[in-house]
Amino acid sequence: MNLLSIQTGHNATIGLMENGEITALLSQEKLDNIKNSAAFPYDAIKAVLSERGLGPQDIDEVVIASRMIFPQHCLDPRGQEVVSDHLNPPSTIRFVKRLEKGLTGVLLPWVFRFARARRHAKLCAEGVAHLQNRLHEIGLSDKPLHFIDHHLCHARGAYHALEREIGNEALVFTLDGMGDGLCATVTRVGPSGEWQRIAETPFNASLGSIYSETTRFLGMKIMEHEYKVMGLAAYCKGYHLETYHRVFEPVINIDPGNPLSFRASLDTSEFYDYLAKHAVGERFDNIAGAVQHLLEDRVTRWIANAIHATGIRRIFTGGGVFMNVKLNKRIQEMEEVEQVWFLPSCGDESNPLGAAYARAIELGQRVKPLANLYLGIGYQRATLAAFIAQNHLVEKYAVSEPADIEEAIAELLAQGQVVARFSGRCEWGARSLGNRAILAHPSHLESFFTVNDLIKARDFWMPFAPTVLDIWSSRYLGNYDPARVRAPHMITAFRASPLGVQHLRAAMHQGDFTIRPQVIEQEVNPEYYRMLQAFERRTGVGGVMNTSFNLHGFPLVATPEQALITLEKSGLQNLALGPFLISKKEQP
Ligand SMILES: [Fe+2]
Repeated sequence: MNLLSIQTGHNATIGLMENGEITALLSQEKLDNIKNSAAFPYDAIKAVLSERGLGPQDIDEVVIASRMIFPQHCLDPRGQEVVSDHLNPPSTIRFVKRLEKGLTGVLLPWVFRFARARRHAKLCAEGVAHLQNRLHEIGLSDKPLHFIDHHLCHARGAYHALEREIGNEALVFTLDGMGDGLCATVTRVGPSGEWQRIAETPFNASLGSIYSETTRFLGMKIMEHEYKVMGLAAYCKGYHLETYHRVFEPVINIDPGNPLSFRASLDTSEFYDYLAKHAVGERFDNIAGAVQHLLEDRVTRWIANAIHATGIRRIFTGGGVFMNVKLNKRIQEMEEVEQVWFLPSCGDESNPLGAAYARAIELGQRVKPLANLYLGIGYQRATLAAFIAQNHLVEKYAVSEPADIEEAIAELLAQGQVVARFSGRCEWGARSLGNRAILAHPSHLESFFTVNDLIKARDFWMPFAPTVLDIWSSRYLGNYDPARVRAPHMITAFRASPLGVQHLRAAMHQGDFTIRPQVIEQEVNPEYYRMLQAFERRTGVGGVMNTSFNLHGFPLVATPEQALITLEKSGLQNLALGPFLISKKEQP
């Protein structure tokens, strides 16, 4: 049975499950080259069906990763930014909300409840009509259509993608800005897989919204640049605590009536307005440090409460807030936690994964965990050779086909050169995992500046990260214990060991010497692993600096066309395109 699952709206993504196994996951942004593209994912659906040799007739059911579909989720807003209503409401909605908070709302609360419910129902009905039109256009309108709760998607995605030891109890935590009316849930999984949601928090007591609105207050892009606030926070050395106590501490806490949920002293979707009143004049880095402190404190206490209440110490996490690798570092260091699994790229782009798992479980199917994240589109040698010929690349560049492209890449890296590696199927999610990667020697701090100068133009406080051979991981990472937490996807961080600082100097946070690694095992990506071994033979270093292959502000490259544009528009010297090496010619 084949299930096609769809996340519409911000970072629209699709998933394909064939007989209980996820065989493809692809975001629309990889095709239209618009970061976090909210376009209806036609291109992604077509590309995945083509990759798997299927057509619309081969799909048995369509699964939507939400109970609520709004019209803006199913339009085709190419080139336009679509941000959720709750985070950036139109002025009329803000006006009505103000009215509701005033005397009118106190006297006539039922009027506002009724109006809100009506508007909501009307928008949802419109959204479903749009969705059915979009499915009709792609030949899928005759398929049974199922809608799965947003936080169930986050939870099912985290648990089933990562759980390899069925028979053990577990807790699954979800945490995001909001989705289907909630922002946090706790689920207890019994030894036979019994699934019981034991707590939930409504959307207006959201740590995710507080973090996002703080990002916006700091002049950065909401629902995209939260990681920059986290990166900035690492430079705080305690000065932020005053800001925390004055501005952030009173706003949200564990609910005294239910220690597994949160309670806020205001509607957190309006947190920007609160900051505008209470945080003007606070230093930008103290604000970043304070919101990060708030997040780490509240989430670790929430998790500890759930562990104490249930006695279950194996945990799984999903939802966009757990993209915060510094939060994850704190969680894995909690003495209450015995084992933790962090879903990679756990924003809403992971929800097609959870939607497919949830529907398959409803159908009584046996589902399989993810083997790896190389679930996008790939290109054969013949296709890449034709691409090189069609674009006359030999006239402009030095093009060769080395006997072993991985050895050739390793040699260039060992010489201190930077190489973009385009190989196999592209990785799903926000992080490069080697197949669409810009690689450099990690030991030389110059690599940090060279890669920034050549292509990335990242903010000066933001770190790069390494890929590390599994056999070197415990030598580079402090407190690394793979039985407790595994780190194959750059979704958590560790303190660097002294040897780690020496070998991976350019690929760590320069403010606190923490590392967000991709620890790679041979069976996950044998070719990339071989390249790392070749680099290790030449240098004695067990890792490389790995940053995503893209121009600043664009999504991770997926196609040869995007790879070529990135080469041409940047100072990048070398592109390993499948088995071919394409290098810019020396200027005379
Ligand atoms: Fe979400």
